[in-house]
Amino acid sequence: MRSELNSVKVAENTYWVGIVDDRKVPFHRLILEKGTTYNSYLMMTEKPTLIDTVDIAFGREFVEQMSSLMDLDELAYIVINHVEPDHAGALPALLRKATNAVIVTTSLGAELLKDMFRIKNREFLIIKDGDSLDIGGKTLQFFETPYLHTAETMITYAVEDKTLYPCDQFSTHMAAHELFNDLAQEDYLPDFETYYKLIMGPHRPYVRKMLEKIAGLEINMIAPSHGYILREDPQRFISLYDEMSTLSTSGETKKVTIVYSTMTGNTRKLAQQLAEAIADYGMVVDEYNLRDADLKEVADSIRSSDGLLVGSSTRYADMVGDIEKLLQELAESEMRRIPAAAFGSYGWSGEATLHIENYLEQAGFQVINERHLLGNHGYDMSLFPLRVKFIDEKALERARQAGELFGEKVLTYTA
Ligand code: FEO
Repeated sequence: MRSELNSVKVAENTYWVGIVDDRKVPFHRLILEKGTTYNSYLMMTEKPTLIDTVDIAFGREFVEQMSSLMDLDELAYIVINHVEPDHAGALPALLRKATNAVIVTTSLGAELLKDMFRIKNREFLIIKDGDSLDIGGKTLQFFETPYLHTAETMITYAVEDKTLYPCDQFSTHMAAHELFNDLAQEDYLPDFETYYKLIMGPHRPYVRKMLEKIAGLEINMIAPSHGYILREDPQRFISLYDEMSTLSTSGETKKVTIVYSTMTGNTRKLAQQLAEAIADYGMVVDEYNLRDADLKEVADSIRSSDGLLVGSSTRYADMVGDIEKLLQELAESEMRRIPAAAFGSYGWSGEATLHIENYLEQAGFQVINERHLLGNHGYDMSLFPLRVKFIDEKALERARQAGELFGEKVLTYTA
């Protein structure tokens, strides 16, 4: 294993204290052929502050290096923008020496860190979107950027330096020995774009929200946690994220069919939330309550749709109404592989959504479910199948979220 740990000045009183990792690093089922860096930044202000740590494999070296740079008892804050072990992995080793440091992170970040690293009896400063922190000579401002690329993520902005510390965002997986993009010996743009496509692209709507949040900031440098520090033309990289996260419109309006059977009206309420969220994406929604609809008309609508949502209440562990009849017909026809998902409310047990999924798979649809969402988006929340016991405000909000996600799937889907 070859690594380098150094301190390099990146701004006033601010030093890169990271690792250049030349290994072919396994990461998210990929092998990073060009290695990577784990960029950590030390601000030697009146209240010395570290932004992110390094990969768990380098904890010991990192702490030794940090100890040679400062008395770790004097470290006042450790900002954790993102809890994955390639950035927060050296935290436990560091905390053993940095006995007074307060951990600065989001509420979810704090929960995850406590769980992962069994951190006890340490002070956390919980960050909410837009919060600021005076570290004595610099002001840090924090923005929550959930799902870029995990739920707890935030970014840090050094106000006086006009420098953005966005952790994974704007990163590149390259063992960037030169550290700064203006010194790069090879064309790193393809790798920057590949990183975006693999890590950030699946969370496109959240990239749009992040870009809105940083639009008002004056940014002279972007200091991410992998690859080059973007001190030359940082705006170019923001523009690239803007371009890559903007959907090219073909001019064709997409259509989603929502069809359901309901016993008490709760499944209809879910359908309405889903429909509203999808319509907000600018798509046409054809919604059918099978009690009043003609099966042939519904099947025709599905054949001309770009996405399908099928819902049913559960009674005696089964679907209700004519839903099964419709699904049998679909399973016996040749359907296009468009995104499809199941939803339904239940009171006792909720098997209907599972039966629906089985039929959707049999008919050849691209079924959007927990397995798909975890594998493709890293979502560990179960949005589909949308299976809701009775109904309350929380369930309706979940349905809204599920609708937004389904709309995104349909808009970005390529067969
Ligand atoms: Fe670089 Fe999400 O870890």
